[in-house]
Amino acid sequence: MAGLAIDLDLLRRFEQGLDPRFPERGEIPARVMGYGEISTVLEIGVGAERDLAYKRMPMFRTAQEAERHEVLYRQAIQVLEERVGLRVVPSDVVRVVNDRTGRIVIYIVQERFPAEAVGHQVIHRLPADDVRRLVLAVLRETAKVFDFNKEHRGELELGIDGQISNWAIADFDPTAGGLPDEVELIYFDTSSPFLTVNGKEQLDPELFLRSAPSFMVWILRLLFLEDVMTRYYDFRKVTIDIIANFFKEQRADLVPDLVEAVNGFCAAEIEAGGFKPITVDEVRAYYREDAWIWRLYLNFRKVDRFLHGLLGKDYPYILPGKIKR
Ligand SMILES: Nc1ncnc2c1ncn2[C@@H]1O[C@H](COP(=O)(O)OP(=O)(O)OP(=O)(O)O)[C@@H](O)[C@H]1O
Ligand SMILES: [Mg+2]
Repeated sequence: MAGLAIDLDLLRRFEQGLDPRFPERGEIPARVMGYGEISTVLEIGVGAERDLAYKRMPMFRTAQEAERHEVLYRQAIQVLEERVGLRVVPSDVVRVVNDRTGRIVIYIVQERFPAEAVGHQVIHRLPADDVRRLVLAVLRETAKVFDFNKEHRGELELGIDGQISNWAIADFDPTAGGLPDEVELIYFDTSSPFLTVNGKEQLDPELFLRSAPSFMVWILRLLFLEDVMTRYYDFRKVTIDIIANFFKEQRADLVPDLVEAVNGFCAAEIEAGGFKPITVDEVRAYYREDAWIWRLYLNFRKVDRFLHGLLGKDYPYILPGKIKR
């Protein structure tokens, strides 16, 4: 793929020495950059390897399962770049097997952007007008995926998570005091490649359930799995999610203006009856529910980690502390 200089031996040693409860305390220096639904994003090492971001996925049970995810990952990126025309961060996917536990772990390795260039950091420094411009740029990129889907319906479709925290601004100069005239965005949230070929989803939904507490799997399967697997194929849901995230980022002040921007962006579709205008209340209600569910879910995962500890079982996932919302 991207031909990044990945130090596999370092990754192996990192995984071997990792205590998922305290990822920062191993022999190899590391720092958690972000927690995802499916991966944990890490900075690892001290040398050139620190210029990369490492997304750790420890949920694979067999080599075949891991291989399948790797192939899908490469395929989805290729479609995004070459057919949809998104700019995607240079990345590669590698597999590490822990000699001690036998655990199979995939690391998605990407070029790392300076934190100041990533969307959810940028929005705290920009004037409201520029944030609006940034969100419109995100909508334009996201819409490329949905236009592609429309053209290839039933044959080849992609899901995308358009949240502001999933994009970096190319060649961003944080000292310039604002956005450049032409905003170029780079997409990097690639760990869950939603790809539907001939109407069949290629991403294994079980991967989402793996990291869930075993006592919750049945209810998640019943109530949430379908939504998780389909929401990223729905432009309206994706846009609501993009705006709702501004509550989480403590920029609720921008929400009304952004709702207007989204509806403006979709004016032609709204006119044609293909898109119901979004409202602030709807976005707020969505956010509250989403935040509540995630908080609850995280707490249950911590209970699960505790139970694993009691039983002397290895718990492979890195969990966040309290998340500010
Ligand atoms: N290549 C990168 N360069 C710089 N920062 C990154 C990079 N990739 C991820 N991050 C940081 O980590 C955060 C989470 O990453 P990312 O969006 O890829 O995963 P996620 O949304 O947490 O989830 P999931 O695992 O569910 O796909 C980002 O918002 C960003 O702050
Ligand atoms: Mg993300």
